[in-house]
Amino acid sequence: MLYDGGAIGILPIMADLEDLKTALLSDIAAAADESALEAVRVASLGKKGSISTLLSGLGKMSPDERKTEGAAINTLKEAVAAALSARRGVLKDAALEARLANETLDVTLPVRPHGAAAGRIHPISQVMDELAEIFADMGFSIAEGPDIETDDYNFTKLNFPPDHPARDMHDTFFFHPDKQGRRKVLRTHTSPVQVRTMLAQKPPIRVICPGRTYRCDSDQTHTPMFHQVEGLVIDRSSNLGHLKWILEEFLKAFFETPTVNLRFRPSYFPFTEPSMEVDVQCSRKDGEIRFGEGSDWLEILGCGMVHSNVLRNCGLDPEIYQGFAWGIGIDRLAMLKYGMPDLRAFFEADVRWLKHYGFRPLDFPSLASGLSP
Ligand code: DAH
Repeated sequence: MLYDGGAIGILPIMADLEDLKTALLSDIAAAADESALEAVRVASLGKKGSISTLLSGLGKMSPDERKTEGAAINTLKEAVAAALSARRGVLKDAALEARLANETLDVTLPVRPHGAAAGRIHPISQVMDELAEIFADMGFSIAEGPDIETDDYNFTKLNFPPDHPARDMHDTFFFHPDKQGRRKVLRTHTSPVQVRTMLAQKPPIRVICPGRTYRCDSDQTHTPMFHQVEGLVIDRSSNLGHLKWILEEFLKAFFETPTVNLRFRPSYFPFTEPSMEVDVQCSRKDGEIRFGEGSDWLEILGCGMVHSNVLRNCGLDPEIYQGFAWGIGIDRLAMLKYGMPDLRAFFEADVRWLKHYGFRPLDFPSLASGLSP
């Protein structure tokens, strides 16, 4: 302890003060940056600093002692404060110098491309935006549902009988059953969003439901995660004529061709009656597919009139309401429109692929300016 009240005589204290001053001034001179300097300030002039402690001891001294010692401590305090402020100025200038040297700008360098311009929109996102644009123009809104779905919404409410082979046909990813024995699934199609929409909204209903779907399957044209868009129209009089018109208008707008010829084939889905698969007329020359011409047919989607059991399961009276639905693979639409041969590449996150097939972020698809850039 440098100072212990008035117990020691004046001279030793003066000598101690000299030592303290020398020590503090050398610490100040040695402080390499502003935080080191601040540490010296706190240790000397801070609340519990050495000089502050000396000053607080003055109260216990006789008036005479206080006079001389007080003056000496105050002189020390001023000297230390002045040294601190001078050193702070020097360090500030040095820091500014260093920053200026660091931040010099070479104006002769070429301009670097902006990150937003270098990024690309994935073809799936592009196609989803195109779908939203086309169907919004026809008065549809977008409905969404969760990827993890109940067995009830994915199958039962859609009129899949219990233990029906169609449940296995979907190569379903099942979760472990809960305590009540109910198992959730990764939705195998976007059709459960139909159920959610009918349960939540009153007709008239016009929605599309784009999203991720999952099946345990993988080859050149199948990946375990893929994308579908569901369409649903429910009111009192919607019929297959309306469905055919909507699909034709959609395909013409999407493939940007003046004509498409469709072929409806009878099919089976548990949730529609009657059910159909739709083929588009096309020509295939040198690996290129063209619509509206040729003698080939390409299967493109499944559709039908919503089954009365599904309406009933969703709280709608089939004597009053009717409607149609369809489901399309979005990945397949993207492959057909933009000529990508292998579906697996969609999900490999290879930036070279994305650079080649991706879209510029600010080229929004719009019906007025053209869907594809
Ligand atoms: N959910 C069907 C599938 O994944 C596709 C489908 C077919 C959807 C017919 C529909 C429909 O809405 O009416 O294979």
